Amino acid sequence: MNNVLVTGASGLIGGILNFKLTDHNLFGLDIKECDYKNFEISNISDSNKLKTIMSKNKIDTVVHLAGNASVNADWDSLSKNNFTGTLNVFNACQETEVKKIIFASSNHAVGLFENDSPYKEIIAGEYNKVPKKYSLITPNCDVRPDSLYGVSKAYGENLGRFFYENYNIKFACLRIGSVIPNDNPKVKNSNRFYSTWCSHEDIAGLIDACIKSKNVEYDIFYGVSDNDWKIWDISNAEKILSFKPISNSETYR
Ligand SMILES: NC(=O)c1ccc[n+]([C@@H]2O[C@H](COP(=O)([O-])OP(=O)(O)OC[C@H]3O[C@@H](n4cnc5c(N)ncnc54)[C@H](O)[C@@H]3O)[C@@H](O)[C@H]2O)c1
Repeated sequence: MNNVLVTGASGLIGGILNFKLTDHNLFGLDIKECDYKNFEISNISDSNKLKTIMSKNKIDTVVHLAGNASVNADWDSLSKNNFTGTLNVFNACQETEVKKIIFASSNHAVGLFENDSPYKEIIAGEYNKVPKKYSLITPNCDVRPDSLYGVSKAYGENLGRFFYENYNIKFACLRIGSVIPNDNPKVKNSNRFYSTWCSHEDIAGLIDACIKSKNVEYDIFYGVSDNDWKIWDISNAEKILSFKPISNSETYR
């Protein structure tokens, strides 16, 4: 069993992991309380506490979710939580010999592709304007953040590259699409979720596969269900992790 620390344990995805990741010893930290069995209130601004939690629990894998998760987040909050906080987490990992980091990046690190055809038509639900054949957005595409939040996620991915190459910490970046509290992509006045939805089952499955896989080096995966109208290429998850999502938003249309 892996000793896995989840930062941001009290949030939406942290809660899903507590429920679904039953094959690992889970530890959680957050600034808000939650019902993880092993949990400490902690702010990722506190480097010493991060190191203590990781070393005393012999953490081998960190799933880093903590941060401001809003695409409209302001610089002050991003600077503390997503930039400095993420550096603190990765430094603590290096100092306590954590072997693998799974980083919650975001589709917003490459969100400006949604201004281009045919992605903008797909997102708008104008499927009759979409050519029969088109290329999906790949994990190694240009980084095109659509917001300061997207920039903070691109930064986390690059910081991870530095920790991978310099300290040999295996690193998986998950460019997560849309994980929704009620797990239903049918949202009034929005077609976008039919493309970007990632079910609770699939985000947990992807993270579980990243934890278990011996093949992760430095890799970027899109966290999205197998939606008919997805715009991101998920084929590398099957090749590297032997993971394939099982949900498809069309079943809710
Ligand atoms: N939900 C999605 O669809 C989605 C999509 C793309 C990326 N992500 C990323 O995944 C991660 C988790 O997303 P979520 O939807 O569960 O978000 P969330 O807001 O529900 O959870 C984030 C958690 O982080 C905690 N947190 C914030 N700042 C902290 C700090 N300084 N120290 C300790 N804890 C702190 C919050 O208290 C919260 O519980 C985030 O990094 C988010 O950017 C989520």
